[in-house]
Amino acid sequence: MDRFETYRYDVLVVGAGGAGLRAAIEAAAQGASVGLICKSLLGKAHTVMAEGGVAAALANTDGRDSWQVHFRDTMRGGKMLNDWRMAELLAREAPARVVELEGWGALFDRTPDGRILQRNFGGHQYPRLAHVGDRTGLEMIRTLQDKTVHSPGIDVYMECTVARLLKDDGRISGALAYRRETGRFVVFRTKAVVLATGGIGRAYKINSNSWEYTGDGHALAYDAGADLIGMEFVQFHPTGMVWPLSVRGILVTEGVRGEGGVLKNSQGERFMFRYIPEMFRADFADTEDEADRWVAEVIAGRTATVRRPPELLTRDVVARAIAQEVREGRGSPHGGAFLDIASRRKPEEIRKKLPSMYQQFYELADVDITRQPMEVGPTTHYMMGGVRVDAETQAATVPGLFAAGEVAGGLHGANRLGGNSLSDLLVFGRRAGLGAAAYAKAYAGDLQVDAREIEAIAAELLAPFDHVGGENPYAVHDGLQDMMGTYVGIARSESDLRTALSELERLRARAARVGVEGHRQYNPGWHVAVDLRHLLTVSEAVTRAALERRESRGAHMRVDYPDSEPAFATVNVVVRRRGDAMTVDQEPIPPLPDALRRIVEGKD
Ligand code: FUM
Repeated sequence: MDRFETYRYDVLVVGAGGAGLRAAIEAAAQGASVGLICKSLLGKAHTVMAEGGVAAALANTDGRDSWQVHFRDTMRGGKMLNDWRMAELLAREAPARVVELEGWGALFDRTPDGRILQRNFGGHQYPRLAHVGDRTGLEMIRTLQDKTVHSPGIDVYMECTVARLLKDDGRISGALAYRRETGRFVVFRTKAVVLATGGIGRAYKINSNSWEYTGDGHALAYDAGADLIGMEFVQFHPTGMVWPLSVRGILVTEGVRGEGGVLKNSQGERFMFRYIPEMFRADFADTEDEADRWVAEVIAGRTATVRRPPELLTRDVVARAIAQEVREGRGSPHGGAFLDIASRRKPEEIRKKLPSMYQQFYELADVDITRQPMEVGPTTHYMMGGVRVDAETQAATVPGLFAAGEVAGGLHGANRLGGNSLSDLLVFGRRAGLGAAAYAKAYAGDLQVDAREIEAIAAELLAPFDHVGGENPYAVHDGLQDMMGTYVGIARSESDLRTALSELERLRARAARVGVEGHRQYNPGWHVAVDLRHLLTVSEAVTRAALERRESRGAHMRVDYPDSEPAFATVNVVVRRRGDAMTVDQEPIPPLPDALRRIVEGKD
């Protein structure tokens, strides 16, 4: 082990997107020494893909908004499976975190009287998303990165991938990583690890995620013995690009619909009026006339007095509606729907409010969205499921392990509202930083890492170099993505999920035989070979959890159980490692306190 670079920190943060940066800033502010690991370059995190805004009940654009309404929207959007305490903390604390970010230099769009402007988004009753055109995530990363590099006590390790967490007597004691550039291993010794690694979208072919999203944190936590919850809930964002094929899946922000964009099928019908679920009927316009009045009021900057258009239903509903239109033969030429903003807003407004969308379609699809509709369809976007954490501290079920942002489970329940991911990473990134720093300070023991274990892991990671003529890791990854899209996609059934489990066994056997050529210095084939382990773990977790939840709820749709079942209304599906086996249990969610129940029911 002496041959490995070794570093020691109080807190090690794995992942430098919004949640990781916010956690690192907070842990350092508490006096902890912090190592911050990025798989990519600092500032290149996937957070930039949350484009349309950060949800916070500032009530700047509509004075009727409050934390209570935000809480209610979040719980209803999550089909009541949310960790209610996390949802409460999110709704209460998001405004302060957004204002704090503004103080650190984030330049949000403004109302005419100079306050932070907020826009409408799916599932949010009032305009709630503070935004910077359609580049909100980018502005947030830029601001947090700036704050990080000016925070004493944080060392940044770029292009570094964590392969395994290390434990001493049941507690986290470190991590083994490798530098992507040199292929050299690095041992981090630490008392606390904050996972902030984002999602798992790269397990699917059509996705909006960046290349880093291979489920690393989910799999590291699982391997270390932590509980994963809600893994059946994979969010398919309704609007990804569908054409040309080379860009299929790239996100088309919900901000387009928030600014008045409408969805139409190949017959020119605004089909979303046919898909308003019973529980949302009271809140959504059921005629084009009313929906258009809402848009007119919003464009004029007035408080909306009529119900919202159905294009602003939650993502699970809109994604399924598009998929159904396509299945029933009313899809667009390349298998999606038409998203039209050109007929609703002036060209200069579109270019101002949605500059990235304008540029993206112009450059990638030769479509001018100020004159033509976009073709869009569902794309794997976000993982609601993740590491089970304590709401206050973000502590996982393994001592010394913390998780924040997308890798943590619970907050969003069965479906996340757009914009809640950005407030999630601010609110719970900060809480994870506080929790991890306090834990590290309180733990006085001298934690060890096991040199023999590290040597064994390193040998296992290097095995693909010995498999001369072995399988191509890209081919295995490709096979996995195809399989997940086919059998564990937007609509699932028992027989498909069972097929997926057998396919996963085969893919695992192939992954064990992958071979790579060349040496360890910047060898992308080897990096894919290492990622496969994590991708296979999370894919199995999603499949097993989806099999266990014999109902449809939020983002999880079972064609063989099309309704929501009362028996599943108050349980989490929990995935755990027992020995080498992945187990699945149902566990009750603590009941909602009366005061919060009244808020959800609209009584307070
Ligand atoms: O549509 C979007 O701009 C995505 C935002 C989000 O996922 O929160």
